[in-house]
Amino acid sequence: MEGEATAELLMHRKKLARRLALHCLFGQKSTRLVTPFANTPTNKFLNFDLGEILAVTPIVKDKGRIIMSLEKLEKTLNTHIDDLTAKGIRKGFEMVITGIKPAGNNQGPRYYIEGKGQQEFIKMNANSYLGLSLRHELIEAEEEGVRKYGVGPGAVRFISGTHKPHVDLEKKLASFHSREAAMLFSSAYVTSMGVLVPLITEETVVVSDALNHNCIINAMKLARPAAKAVYRHNDMKEMEAAIQNNIGKGKRAVVVTDGIFSMRGDHAPLKELVEICNKYQESFPEGVITVADDSHGVGAFGKTGRGTEEYTNAKVDVLVGTLGKAFGVNGGYVVSSKTIIAYLKETAPMYIYSNPITVGECYAAIKALEILEGKEGATILEHLRKVTKQFRDGLKKAGYETLEGEHPVVPLMVRDTAKTKSLVEYLVGKGILATGLNYPVVPKGDEEIRFQISASHTQSDISYVLDVLAAYK
Ligand SMILES: Cc1ncc(COP(=O)(O)O)c(C=O)c1O
Repeated sequence: MEGEATAELLMHRKKLARRLALHCLFGQKSTRLVTPFANTPTNKFLNFDLGEILAVTPIVKDKGRIIMSLEKLEKTLNTHIDDLTAKGIRKGFEMVITGIKPAGNNQGPRYYIEGKGQQEFIKMNANSYLGLSLRHELIEAEEEGVRKYGVGPGAVRFISGTHKPHVDLEKKLASFHSREAAMLFSSAYVTSMGVLVPLITEETVVVSDALNHNCIINAMKLARPAAKAVYRHNDMKEMEAAIQNNIGKGKRAVVVTDGIFSMRGDHAPLKELVEICNKYQESFPEGVITVADDSHGVGAFGKTGRGTEEYTNAKVDVLVGTLGKAFGVNGGYVVSSKTIIAYLKETAPMYIYSNPITVGECYAAIKALEILEGKEGATILEHLRKVTKQFRDGLKKAGYETLEGEHPVVPLMVRDTAKTKSLVEYLVGKGILATGLNYPVVPKGDEEIRFQISASHTQSDISYVLDVLAAYK
């Protein structure tokens, strides 16, 4: 019978078998199941018996009973989860935000958490460094975009998902970073993967900072380069040695780093990095390409919010940023030359096969850029720098260890998993949300509480948090 069947019919038969298997699990006694159609030649083909159904479904026989195949796998997975719980390093207990009280009375916004009643929380763990995500201008802009174009893009870009606001936002981002072209992705994680995988061929040498973000590490795994070298965090001597040692092993070298390192708030020395790379342009037939993912830097760092490039007075070849942190919206982007962007639009699978951000998000992101580039931008950044300095100075005064820097990510180095956990719990009790970071998110010995300052914090908010921390000492 199968020899006579068309592919379509076979697929239909498989689908039906699965549906009938579920039916069978819920108490069907007969081992003979028939489709509810007349006994035509086609429908004879669609008759099943139990053995046949079991063969195409995710169920197995175990000691006379039928179980889902997941049951066995779940034993292994639960052992892994239990192990993380025992070590106190599970990330999975997520606080659920149930409401937001707007800023007012010399206070920034306050958050309500499921199970915590009417207790108000100050968020010291948000990436929204400019405090834009709650701004009425962005909310109204997003609403306008939704009303004009609907809530979803409807397709990937090259099929029918490109709308004028996508193009407008790309132009604005290219101009913001003084580049020829820009390209949007659904997030910065996806952007780094989407940029690095096509740029790193089997004839490419990749040189990467040891503390680079997980998206860069995974991109390198997916890309399978000719050679890979990882240098000690921000160690430019090691970075240069890595380039030298790999001359002759590939047509091009790609040197990749985070701009701001999100767990530490420190930054890559981009000027030095670019200068070193330029010395070796002639050593690789296709040159040495510098890539920086400055997701925590763009918007929040540098005199006018242009990130680590501005702070270090440098320009990399390919810059990745996010719309989902300082800009307060969602999505990722890359800026570079017209040719690089044209090549990525043809080759980045995360762009070709995946929806873009929504038009509403484009509207909100354009508004965020307008605010940052307008008169108010300088004031917002100045306030952010002021409260960041207040917090950094206060931490040190209270006797806590932190890492030097000027970025609004301020780590309180605890260097112990259990102590990190109890300090986080203490802070939650006092209505302060801050994130404990443990191995493997940070290296062993670098356990910390990461505080993130935002322009929506007032000086009195920061004083409150510092008082609470001082009382814990
Ligand atoms: C360097 C870097 N890249 C990418 C991301 C992810 O950004 P997004 O949430 O836009 O995917 C982060 C966020 O933590 C990051 O630090």
